[in-house]
Amino acid sequence: MRIDLLTLFPAACEPFFDSSILGRARRSGLVTIACHDIRDYSTDAHKKVDDRPYGGGPGMVLMCQPVFDAVEAVERQDERKAQRVLLTPQGERFNQRLAEALATNDRLLLIAGHYEGFDERIRIGLSPREVSIGDYVLSGGEAAALVLVDAVVRLLPGALGDDASIVEETFSAIGPDAGGDNGAAEAPGGLRWVEYPHYTRPREFRGLEVPEVLMSGDHGKIRAWRRDEAMRRTTHRRLDPPHGGAPRQDNETRRS
Ligand code: 6GU
Repeated sequence: MRIDLLTLFPAACEPFFDSSILGRARRSGLVTIACHDIRDYSTDAHKKVDDRPYGGGPGMVLMCQPVFDAVEAVERQDERKAQRVLLTPQGERFNQRLAEALATNDRLLLIAGHYEGFDERIRIGLSPREVSIGDYVLSGGEAAALVLVDAVVRLLPGALGDDASIVEETFSAIGPDAGGDNGAAEAPGGLRWVEYPHYTRPREFRGLEVPEVLMSGDHGKIRAWRRDEAMRRTTHRRLDPPHGGAPRQDNETRRS
């Protein structure tokens, strides 16, 4: 996969793409990620990329010229057709399903804006998919682009050390295999799974113990326990409370 990010702050984005799973995916050649400075494409003598809104009002608006020219020049760098994505708080809400859909593309071209907004003709003329990462306003699309790239790249086959990690993780379509005849299952009510809890050494930490079953060596029992825990968490946490309500918590603990 190739990902191009058009931004006014390429230097702020670049280090993130070199870290952790993303950095490894990049070095292994699984993904090519390139950041491009929209300002480099401005034909203005002062490299201007924004201007005051027609009709008045606060803030500045990202201009058409540098964005159109950047998109067209960067797209010409590779013959694969890019899925264009505009990061905007007005876009469709990003989630695991959308990450999975975007991960099927050979090429993504992300446009992160700053300032009060984009000239409307950027949406009209470039027909990007418009994506938001949640119902809050960021001062620019860069942080949203980093979120999207992380969520997409880790889904590419080979990006994680162990591809099984993806199958049973939170928000996957298929839950943990409980063993027996049932196999892996979908979460109830069209929900996506929340993972079962994980533990590592020591057996006891500040009075908090690891559930006995995980030490039993009985893999049938362990699978069944994990399925039950995942089911409990999924129904508790993903049946959202009424709008504005407090999130459900189930962090009860076992103390010795
Ligand atoms: Cl994609 N951009 C901005 N500026 N704010 C956001 C967002 C995107 N998603 C949530 N808030």
